[in-house]
Amino acid sequence: MINLSGKTALVTGSTRGIGKATAYRLSEAGAKVVVTGRSEDRAREVAKEISDSTGNEVFSVALDIGSKESIEEALKRVNEEVGGVDILVNNAGINRDTLFIRMKYEDWDEIIRVNLTGTFLITQLVVKGMLKKKWGRVINMSSVVAFIGNVGQANYSAAKAGLVGFTKTLAKELAPRNITVNAIAPGFIETDMTENLPEEIKQGFLNQIPMNRFGKSEDVANVVLFLASDLSSYITGEVIHVNGGLF
Ligand code: NAI
Repeated sequence: MINLSGKTALVTGSTRGIGKATAYRLSEAGAKVVVTGRSEDRAREVAKEISDSTGNEVFSVALDIGSKESIEEALKRVNEEVGGVDILVNNAGINRDTLFIRMKYEDWDEIIRVNLTGTFLITQLVVKGMLKKKWGRVINMSSVVAFIGNVGQANYSAAKAGLVGFTKTLAKELAPRNITVNAIAPGFIETDMTENLPEEIKQGFLNQIPMNRFGKSEDVANVVLFLASDLSSYITGEVIHVNGGLF
């Protein structure tokens, strides 16, 4: 039912986890996907894996979302080699958890730079092309902790809450040009990011999830697919929660 052929989708941080599952879904739906990651080799490897599986063209480019130069360089390549981006999934994100009282300036600064400023920079470059085409989809990966907070994540939850404000404002500015901007707030999803959490912390989360299971990357990727498609064309400025009832 969802057919994205003719559209190009760029997913930041798509060499593993939610980003990789998203790249798969979009490619399965026929989009020309650009897999990005800090390592060019790894991005190429994942692009080949997806393309071999879906039979659709998948490009790869090195992109460090924490670096303005890297973002500019990557977008230049994408514009030249692939011809612009119709669907932008701002997925890349990191955490550096520590209690607020012990949080160093560097812990704060890096998380804001990678999780929030990087999204501002890449979105501004990509939206220029969308404005010309009068069609676009921007999907930002927030988090449930933007809404409920989490001990040890003052930096991360502030960045993820920042993405919500960013999403809502951009949605208003870009709606007249047929560009939708939405956010997804995943709860606890089983990926490398959550794998190394202590068992008691995981159990604590599990106890609060009415569905009594952690989410899978595909649970989030399916919502990205919907938001990227024409099925969601009247939805903008929204946050869709994917958390098994946690919030
Ligand atoms: P992950 O750690 O498995 O994947 C993150 C991806 O971002 C990786 O491919 C990594 O290489 C990439 N990345 C990290 N720093 C980067 C940089 N400077 N430049 C480019 N790429 C970079 O994490 P996961 O779980 O797949 O997370 C994806 C997004 O979902 C993140 O924004 C995360 O904050 C968010 N999220 C995850 C949740 C979870 O429970 N796993 C819950 C809520 C939000």
